Amino acid sequence: MAREKIAHTMDLPPAQVAPNVFPLDWRAATKRMEEIWDASQREYWDPKKLPWDTFDASRYTWEEREAIAYWWSVLSVFDASAPPVFAAALIKTYEAHEEDPVRRCFFSVTRDEQNHEQMCGLAITKLLEAPSYLQYEPKTDVGRKAKRNVEWLYYNGARYWEGYKTAVPKYSLAVLFSSFLMGEIAAATIFHQMAEHCTEPVFKEAFRSIGRDEGRHMAICMTLMERDYPKMDVSDKSLITKQIRAGFLFLSGVLFEPPVEFWDIPADFIANQRAIEEVARNAGFYIPEYEPKKENWKNAMLNLKAVLDKYGIPFPAIPEVGITGQEVRDVDLEDIIPVF
Ligand SMILES: [Fe+2]
Ligand SMILES: [Fe+2]
Repeated sequence: MAREKIAHTMDLPPAQVAPNVFPLDWRAATKRMEEIWDASQREYWDPKKLPWDTFDASRYTWEEREAIAYWWSVLSVFDASAPPVFAAALIKTYEAHEEDPVRRCFFSVTRDEQNHEQMCGLAITKLLEAPSYLQYEPKTDVGRKAKRNVEWLYYNGARYWEGYKTAVPKYSLAVLFSSFLMGEIAAATIFHQMAEHCTEPVFKEAFRSIGRDEGRHMAICMTLMERDYPKMDVSDKSLITKQIRAGFLFLSGVLFEPPVEFWDIPADFIANQRAIEEVARNAGFYIPEYEPKKENWKNAMLNLKAVLDKYGIPFPAIPEVGITGQEVRDVDLEDIIPVF
């Protein structure tokens, strides 16, 4: 049915109110956000332009190549889902008529995460001479174990998209940011550590760039929290507590070890992962061992806790890394909105 015409009945059309597809204004109230956007323009990098000419995969044994490609594959389970995840958040900033610099910052995160995904792809393709582990025919026992683990991580990771899509329109940006932030804090730390210890120039530089990107993403989340949390609804606070617990469980998959009560993985998954990581580590590809990983993850949680404490948001108990707090039970993959 054709829409009834109204222009002949009034001088000006009715005002367009959010949520609708886009704001027609370039309001800028948060100065810090403009600075972060400028930094993202300055610090932009192209994965293809890294010093790939210095990289010779045949310098490594097949076991080592399979082990290093495994780590990039684990990362890609998170980073290859980040572009659509942030693209959805970007659309939300338009629908919600966010300020202009906030829209641009979300655009920059989407673009950065696409870069991270490209980097995973370049590393995996060169190491395996195949477009992914899923299409790769393993050459050693390390590769066979790695491929099976990757298939299980992919199965688990793929399950959260439906939940995310329903969460985005349901929650305010303030709630969405809480789970984004946790991923960014931990990611910024781990990439800086890996950049510091990695011996392969092309990977070292990639980690440095990715770590810098994640640092900016963290700043974007923090800036929005500072803007929105003081006026936040009380009902949102308990939701955030639950989100943090869910985010911990989800992101442990890449930043720590996947907790088995949440991740649906075979009994030998973790033992195999530890063995694979050992091979990569011995080849000069630094992956923190169990204790340093735990320490890093714990520090990220404590940093986040300090932020939430300021706004009176209860922190969940995270016994896995020795943090006491509010008990959160029955976290489901369907409930989570964290990204990397
Ligand atoms: Fe990322
Ligand atoms: Fe990020």
